[in-house]
Amino acid sequence: MTHEPVMLREVLHHLAPRGGEQILDGTFGGGGYTAAILEAAQCTVWALDRDPEAIARGAAIAARYPGRLHLLHGRFGDMVALLGANGIDALDSVVLDLGVSSFQLDDAARGFSFRADGPLDMRMAAAGPTAADLVNTLPEAELADTLYQFGEERLSRRIAKAIVAARAQAPITTTLQLAEIIRRVVPAGRSGIDPATRSFQALRIRVNDELGEIERGLAAAAGLLAPGGRLVVVSFHSLEDRLVKRFMQDAAGRTPAPSRHDPGGLQPRAEARFALLTRNAERPGDAELRANPRARSARLRALARLPLRDVAP
Ligand SMILES: C[S@@+](CC[C@H](N)C(=O)[O-])C[C@H]1O[C@@H](n2cnc3c(N)ncnc32)[C@H](O)[C@@H]1O
Repeated sequence: MTHEPVMLREVLHHLAPRGGEQILDGTFGGGGYTAAILEAAQCTVWALDRDPEAIARGAAIAARYPGRLHLLHGRFGDMVALLGANGIDALDSVVLDLGVSSFQLDDAARGFSFRADGPLDMRMAAAGPTAADLVNTLPEAELADTLYQFGEERLSRRIAKAIVAARAQAPITTTLQLAEIIRRVVPAGRSGIDPATRSFQALRIRVNDELGEIERGLAAAAGLLAPGGRLVVVSFHSLEDRLVKRFMQDAAGRTPAPSRHDPGGLQPRAEARFALLTRNAERPGDAELRANPRARSARLRALARLPLRDVAP
């Protein structure tokens, strides 16, 4: 099992790591970004992951770069405290690669996949309520709201009703049990996407408070960036990308154009402390899309703290 890093070339381009820098990889995963950053310059990487299994896998990379990789178990929403405990209060760049890794998705025992049977868990860290806890206890209306808000599932009410009817017979404990309940009431679309996709996304986001983490993580990262420091974020669905886009535009002091006489669309405010490095989200190139199907929905956005550093290496 491996995790193929997504948009690695573009991530490295925006991070442009240099010797002596302190860089945070807030979503270590399989360590694909971290290893490439450590290879690119004599910098130090602080790597976080909320999944203890990811941190344990990192030992091999740490051994390859003695003294330059510090692995910390925890959430990027808590990065200020996690780094502060290690004497770090400023960073030269931060990268976040949102969502789950292939290690997590492909391990049926973690309960993220509707293709393989496993316990209905979906927790990135082994703490807090599982997806099964939510599915078996939430009131029908709240279940429907969750599927709608976090999965953009238009048939949320119909699915919630089917779940509540099924759990009245017996608790729903496995991924395939839930997927079958959803497939019975949601017609397969022409797109070929499994009818359970949106509901599984919704439950995963809620179980892990992923959107709350993104809001806390972006604010914390912006606060830690030294002048010239970069924040690079790769997201995988529209709810994530919307938060990242709004945060970055706001940080860069850009507000929607007030009138049709300003077709440029976004106006920088004078007091902005950050500049956008990507005006629109960047997408993976054709070769990557062909080689790695999981890259297909990736979007990259990047920001730098002003004043920008000089361009020379
Ligand atoms: C898409 S993978 C990252 C892959 C990595 N860039 C690589 O190249 O191997 C996302 C990882 O972030 C972790 N993660 C997700 N949300 C997190 C959070 N709020 N704090 C810390 N880690 C998180 C997941 O556990 C997962 O291991």
